[in-house]
Amino acid sequence: MENIHPIFDKLLNKQDKEQFLNQKAKTFWFTGLSGSGKSTIAQGLEKLLFSKGYFIQVIDGDNTRAGINKNLGFSLEDRQENIRRVAEIAKLFNEAGVICLCSFVSPTIAIRKHAKEIIGEDMFYEIFVDTPLEVCEARDVKGLYKKARSGMIKGFTGIDSPFEAPLDADLIIKTNDLSIEQSVSKVFNFVAPLIQID
Ligand code: ADX
Repeated sequence: MENIHPIFDKLLNKQDKEQFLNQKAKTFWFTGLSGSGKSTIAQGLEKLLFSKGYFIQVIDGDNTRAGINKNLGFSLEDRQENIRRVAEIAKLFNEAGVICLCSFVSPTIAIRKHAKEIIGEDMFYEIFVDTPLEVCEARDVKGLYKKARSGMIKGFTGIDSPFEAPLDADLIIKTNDLSIEQSVSKVFNFVAPLIQID
């Protein structure tokens, strides 16, 4: 059959989809303690980017641990598998031209390095939401720190399971000194030049 347009000669690739969406697909990876504000910032940023015409997907524990990762817990091994799967998902979204905002505790340097290797060195930006444990614990939005302190939950990050702060994050947000709007705006200023199509 005769091709009606040269585009049908080949499979569509990431660049075709980025052109269509008028954006560069990247993954912005938010790491930090439970209650640090990662998902709040990611969700605020999603709204702001969307209002400016960008197409984004937020991936976090809420939309993955209840579904694709519902067979996983919080042992180091399960956390590694959790992050491996969500990194593969982010990669698929990126290949479809979509900007990903991933919000995961992702507690170790090795786990985050693995995510970066899956997603691609040039596609991945690490954002450390650096909120002190005392502040996360005082907020205790989900009541989990209280349960962890009382021993009802074992292996809780920051209490009896480690969190290794990034040594070379691309951006650090100290939520203690900033309002949610200020945090979102700081991340937006970092992200905006990276997703602009040339
Ligand atoms: S990760 O370590 O595998 O990256 P993830 O970001 O998916 O963790 O999930 C963290 C969320 O799960 C926390 O914000 C908290 O609400 C909940 N949670 C339940 N148990 C634990 C635990 N033992 N350690 C950390 N978070 C836990």
